[in-house]
Amino acid sequence: MKLKDRVVIITGAAHGIGEAYTRRCAREGAAVLLADIDGEAGRRLAEELQAAGGKAAAERVDVSSPEDTRRMAEVAVKRFGRIDALVCNAGIYPLTEWEKITLDDWHRVLNVNLTGTFLCCKAVVPRMKEQRRGSIVTIASSTFWSGSPRLAHYIASKGGVIGLTRAMATEFGPYGITVNCVAPGLTQTATVRNAYAEEWFQKRIDEQCIKRKQMPEDLTGAIVFLCSEDAAFVTGQCLQVNGGMSFH
Ligand code: NAI
Repeated sequence: MKLKDRVVIITGAAHGIGEAYTRRCAREGAAVLLADIDGEAGRRLAEELQAAGGKAAAERVDVSSPEDTRRMAEVAVKRFGRIDALVCNAGIYPLTEWEKITLDDWHRVLNVNLTGTFLCCKAVVPRMKEQRRGSIVTIASSTFWSGSPRLAHYIASKGGVIGLTRAMATEFGPYGITVNCVAPGLTQTATVRNAYAEEWFQKRIDEQCIKRKQMPEDLTGAIVFLCSEDAAFVTGQCLQVNGGMSFH
């Protein structure tokens, strides 16, 4: 077990790729706090993990809310005693043509994806500094390198996440806290399947070295590594997990 007894907070843990991170971290022995705006689905998954002998708790959290994210950190400490790792996975990617992106749309995407990452880190870092250790993993996207239509607000937010990751790595390194980023390629979640036609998936496969669809489980090994002791000297990095779609 690579995360035995480590306390890991995962945002956006109830569905999609976050659910895969949560299941894998629990299997690796972590105590997981599932922080999701869909509190009911988070609670159901936490109960399922507990019933299987895992350590898990759920909290309804909107990552764009300073109050919610502060409470998230408090609940993790209250339930499990400390915070070893944070995975800032919650994100939204509404496909919108450039002409139709309103200022409200822009702010909403930036608020959840970029400000949400900032707020979650703000909430956990004081505790990690006290402990003089911690692993933070942010989530970007391969679209930062490739571009992609109808996602200008989203790609801008993910570029911000990569910059924030590097800035935080330099700030928190002296306290033994690592900050790294994982950038997934197009991954088969219900949200993505509802958004794109089959031809789009084939186009991505053609661009990859590994010729198959990317699944949520393909990303979990990178998360486990970056949250584990094995990655204690790895920081400020962005790891693309996308079947070799790009080599930047
Ligand atoms: P999803 O839509 O399947 O799941 C997102 C999860 O985040 C849901 O559980 C949802 O309830 C939660 N969430 C949404 N807004 C929230 C908020 N304000 N506060 C707390 N929780 C919130 O998304 P998916 O596909 O699993 O993506 C997860 C992450 O991976 C996102 O950051 C996304 O940008 C990133 N990503 C996904 C890719 C893909 O192809 N699926 C590709 C590249 C990056």
